Amino acid sequence: MKFKRVFLIVLDSFGVGELPDSADFGDEGSDTLGAVYSSGKLNVPNMKELGLFNIKGVRADRPVKAPIGAYGRSGELSRGKDTTVGHWEIAGAISEKPLPTYPNGFPTEILDRLEKETGFGWICNKPYSGTQLLLDYGREQKETGKLIVYTSGDSVFQVAAHMEQFTLKQLYDYCEKARNILVGDHPVGRVIARPYVGEYPNYTRTADRHDYSLECPKTTMLDVLKNGGYETLSVGKISDIFAGRGVTRSVKTSSNTDGMAKSLSLADDDFTGLCFINLVDFDSKYGHRNDPIGYAEALNEFDAWLPSFKEKLNDDDLLIITADHGCDPLTPSTDHSREYVPILCYANNIVPIDLGTRTTYSDIAATVCENFGVDTLEGNSFLKALMITSPDELLDTAKEAQKASFAPYSNYNVGAALLCDDGKTYKGANIESAAYSPTTCAERTALTKAVSEGAKDLTAIAVVGGPNGEVVGGCTPCGVCRQFLYELGGKDMPVITIDSDNNTVVRRMEELLPDGFSGKQLGK
Ligand code: THU
Repeated sequence: MKFKRVFLIVLDSFGVGELPDSADFGDEGSDTLGAVYSSGKLNVPNMKELGLFNIKGVRADRPVKAPIGAYGRSGELSRGKDTTVGHWEIAGAISEKPLPTYPNGFPTEILDRLEKETGFGWICNKPYSGTQLLLDYGREQKETGKLIVYTSGDSVFQVAAHMEQFTLKQLYDYCEKARNILVGDHPVGRVIARPYVGEYPNYTRTADRHDYSLECPKTTMLDVLKNGGYETLSVGKISDIFAGRGVTRSVKTSSNTDGMAKSLSLADDDFTGLCFINLVDFDSKYGHRNDPIGYAEALNEFDAWLPSFKEKLNDDDLLIITADHGCDPLTPSTDHSREYVPILCYANNIVPIDLGTRTTYSDIAATVCENFGVDTLEGNSFLKALMITSPDELLDTAKEAQKASFAPYSNYNVGAALLCDDGKTYKGANIESAAYSPTTCAERTALTKAVSEGAKDLTAIAVVGGPNGEVVGGCTPCGVCRQFLYELGGKDMPVITIDSDNNTVVRRMEELLPDGFSGKQLGK
């Protein structure tokens, strides 16, 4: 276990630019961060320092020279752009189909079945705005004693009931029965009980709204973590999104400010596992209301809070900041947008690195699951790229290795230090032959030593080299070594070298060999 506590914060709807398939969702050109930045009010120095503007494709502000975090972006594989599906994907469950919406109302069989089971009939059964609904149907409810069933552009089955005509228990009971029916072919995201009081035209909704979420049809990282004996803390609507499944402790919040305060106090708790936080105001108060200034100010508040949270992190804590979809406040649409989401990681001794463009939000789940040694679900872990070992120490070992170099023909001496998951470091030097072609590079010497000694997983490699035993900048692995390293270490393995200005450079293998041959092509 690399990290004892992982804090995963979802900034609801904080997209960082359109996905290649955004046009399929009517979201061509959407860019939530870009829109918020253009308000001129965004001031997020702490996220900037983590690498927010170093993320590929983010053009709003200038990248920083020396980011202090691991930064990247991720596309979404699920066929949807809602909160539920986005969070499920972050948790390792990809939804091949979006949750169903009902622009023409629900099938009458479902409502008939509910009437049979509860004795209550229905009226409306259309998409409707909540306030207009009561003005149009409140009196009919009073006359007929029927429940008002309605929906919206989202996957919701909503039921409004006047509290002088129905008891809260009757309404909740009806919604629970609806929840049980709305699965299988009709997996509606949420069933929502909406009690109200008052007389026409002065109706008001009560605070007893209750949401019944659909259980995720697949296993999530919360399930596997909880089963593995780890804590899974929920802050905000996380627990609702997962219908409480896999959550060991849930803390409700009333706003972003409240969510941040509660997260801060949870950081004082000693636990081993995941603290999964959702801050919803970005989406509900600003994204949907097309308010880029409000959105910017909410981000500024979060950013100003970050240092206080970072201060609470122990050396074995990891912070991941991401989002679940976009909600560009400058497009005419008030709906979510299909966008990349940011991935910003921070730990006290983290080595800054570009995490690149990930294919699925589930890479986050895979990372968390690998960290805790539980079954991984969908996605590819980038845990390896989150180095907390000193790259300069590994470079020093490579310099030591260089001393064993046998290079009488080129007089170019190379040393490599390969750190493996068993904690051992294997040294390698180049060994030349008068016949030239049998020459082995330093990296492959280290690799073959490690693998033949039984090392299973490679953690990181450092390479140095230069003529006559010197160390000069710019010695990077050759093509053949890149191929070897890619196959044995994977695309997220950090490769440490020294550049021509004598700076330590840490890059993921994929940056040195994009789209490498992996053996998949051979059916392996
Ligand atoms: N060399 C390495 O050891 N690693 C590399 O990745 C690049 C090249 C060695 C091979 C040869 O002995 C010498 O450098 C000159 O090519």
